[in-house]
Amino acid sequence: MSQPVSICVIGSGYVGLVAAACFAEMGHRVLCVDNDEAKVKTLCEGGVPIFEKHLPELLARHRMGGIDFTVDLASAVEQCEVVFIAVGTPQGDSGAADLSFVEAVVSEIARSISGYKVIVEKSTVPVYTNEWISRVLQRHGVAPSSFDVVSNPEFLREGTAVVDFLHPDRIVVGANSERAAQVMRRVYAPLTEGTYYAQPDALQGACSASRPAPLVVTSAQSAELIKHASNAFLALKISFINAVANLAEAVDGDIQDIAAGMGLDTRIGPRFLRAGLGYGGSCFPKDVAAFRWVAQQRGVEFQLLDEIRKINERQKEIFFNKVLSALWTLRGKRLAALGLAYKGDTDDIRESPAIDMIKRLLASGALVTAYDPAAMERAREVLPASDRMGYASGVFEAARDADAVLILTDWKEFANIDLVRLNQEVRFPIVIDGRNLYQPQVMHDHGFTYVSVGRPAIYQAQQGKPRSLAI
Ligand SMILES: NC(=O)c1ccc[n+]([C@@H]2O[C@H](COP(=O)([O-])OP(=O)(O)OC[C@H]3O[C@@H](n4cnc5c(N)ncnc54)[C@H](O)[C@@H]3O)[C@@H](O)[C@H]2O)c1
Repeated sequence: MSQPVSICVIGSGYVGLVAAACFAEMGHRVLCVDNDEAKVKTLCEGGVPIFEKHLPELLARHRMGGIDFTVDLASAVEQCEVVFIAVGTPQGDSGAADLSFVEAVVSEIARSISGYKVIVEKSTVPVYTNEWISRVLQRHGVAPSSFDVVSNPEFLREGTAVVDFLHPDRIVVGANSERAAQVMRRVYAPLTEGTYYAQPDALQGACSASRPAPLVVTSAQSAELIKHASNAFLALKISFINAVANLAEAVDGDIQDIAAGMGLDTRIGPRFLRAGLGYGGSCFPKDVAAFRWVAQQRGVEFQLLDEIRKINERQKEIFFNKVLSALWTLRGKRLAALGLAYKGDTDDIRESPAIDMIKRLLASGALVTAYDPAAMERAREVLPASDRMGYASGVFEAARDADAVLILTDWKEFANIDLVRLNQEVRFPIVIDGRNLYQPQVMHDHGFTYVSVGRPAIYQAQQGKPRSLAI
């Protein structure tokens, strides 16, 4: 049985809170820190501030022993051997990551280091941030022998974050010292040695006792680059298939068939080849921008990164134009918006293409009624309810008397709508699907005009096919 490690996780957001709960699940003693007092109070009182599958059950399981929550960073750092930094690294004005939250945390850590600590970058940061962290610690008088800085990027996906964390494709540890690498091996030993998977109540996933999680040890710089390069590559796949989707539309091809045909090639693979409204979320947009900034700073030509972003931006415009083509004008039109989160299975609306689309529709004079299974509370903060912006408690309420239904997020619930009832609720049976959740023929058979991405639009005969607008 591997030895428990005392771990402090600073930042209790989508990454920090999941990491903290999972470390406790792996048998470690965890102190979870945040400077948001309301969030810490919620956590201390048994609440869960984010929507994430399995997180409530893990927190409930470990609240009585494995995990504690606090705003007292100094005391938490003092008590722990390993300190994970999991605060936000949003996009700054230049495209570079804004590292001010990381720097603030590092300055606070510096004041609390007594014995040897391993400081771990869990946040996504540009290459050489590990060196900056060392410099800041030393500037604050911390002896170099008292710490090592390690990069341990996180690859979890919101919506499946807990299972992703406990059953990772790989764990990357970027350490420039063997001492720190050994500590990190101890942290992840339950997953890399498979002892966690042998437990009867272990959460099930792709790894097992006989096929434990692989751990890759690299230099800190390489680990930092692995994270940015991975996210940029995934964003590239999405933008690539979206560009192909636009070409498919121009020649009456079908992007679903094309993606299936491409994805069967094991060198390409089927994942992240789903055409749609474009990527969003708190990672891909900012990480592509930050990676581009890193390349620029080093004098390395990497224009492909620009193209990824441009295609993604254009994808939203193309969808907006589809709405215009289907409805002609938007002023006074009643639109049902299905989805607010940037993807299904999360309440996260950061950089959500759905929110962006609704803002454009409202700016064009449309009346929007939105529904999302998890993200409505967060959405209300950026899209307050008004006489033109409403929120419904379900799909049919949103669709009632609508001139068109727009599918903006790929929630499973939206892929399984009772289409007969939907047709009865709407004013005009028009569905504009930014996530390709339906087969065009099925929509046609249910009486809908159906416009999707990278596939021929289907128009009901009596409604006629509008000539496309030259926008
Ligand atoms: N969200 C994801 O899917 C994901 C996946 C992989 C990596 N990442 C990276 O992980 C990092 C965190 O992302 P997130 O989505 O969890 O962010 P988040 O905004 O959900 O959480 C950050 C938390 O840090 C807290 N915080 C900020 N300053 C603090 C301070 N000085 N002391 C204590 N707490 C402080 C905030 O209150 C917040 O709760 C980012 O760098 C992100 O790029 C995110």
